[in-house]
Amino acid sequence: MNIKSAEFLMSNSKVHLCPEPNLPEFAFIGRSNVGKSSLINMLTERKSLAKTSSTPGKTQLINHFIINDEWYLVDLPGYGYAKMPEKPRKKLKAIIENYILGRENLTNIFVLIDSRHSPQQIDLEFMEWLGESQIPFSIIFTKTDKLSKGALLKNIETYRQEMLKVWEDMPPYFTSSSTKREGRDEILDYLDTILKQ
Ligand code: GTP
Ligand code: MG
Repeated sequence: MNIKSAEFLMSNSKVHLCPEPNLPEFAFIGRSNVGKSSLINMLTERKSLAKTSSTPGKTQLINHFIINDEWYLVDLPGYGYAKMPEKPRKKLKAIIENYILGRENLTNIFVLIDSRHSPQQIDLEFMEWLGESQIPFSIIFTKTDKLSKGALLKNIETYRQEMLKVWEDMPPYFTSSSTKREGRDEILDYLDTILKQ
């Protein structure tokens, strides 16, 4: 897929205030600091379309972008930031859950997982919840520039084994590095395939 245009539309905390649900929508989620906003900038080749930060908890709202006047891309707040006080953490959780369950044009959600880490309960539980809620999702293992190819393959295999305890199969998955621009073609081709279905 060629990204001809990528524009920021709006940020808000409520699903009924989001843009008209008249186009397919793809959202990016994952733990705080996993690299969601950086990946969106890498995919769209717009340096600071989505705001990034080395401090976790940067994205706090549902951020809508429109791509090629054809589909919506959504940057979501991260979940599971341990240092965030309970009240705002619960508020973010509610924003995320209401959006995911209430957004009728949500076509696919990409769950980002830091490729360096062993499977984390919070991600596994989140994906189980997506499954129970019948939300189609795929995985993107991020920050692959931070480990060797061998370690990456090993970690993905560990993840697969963990997922197979609950799932019949591993969902579609990708690997990405925003600094090395890896994974871009594969993720955009996948989006293209879904849009053409
Ligand atoms: P929140 O909005 O706070 O939930 O974070 P986020 O998931 O949007 O992460 P963000 O894109 O802001 O990136 C967090 C930090 O990780 C920043 O310091 C980025 O520069 C860094 N980062 C993101 N992606 C990559 C990557 O592929 N490789 C490397 N080396 N660093 C990355
Ligand atoms: Mg962010």
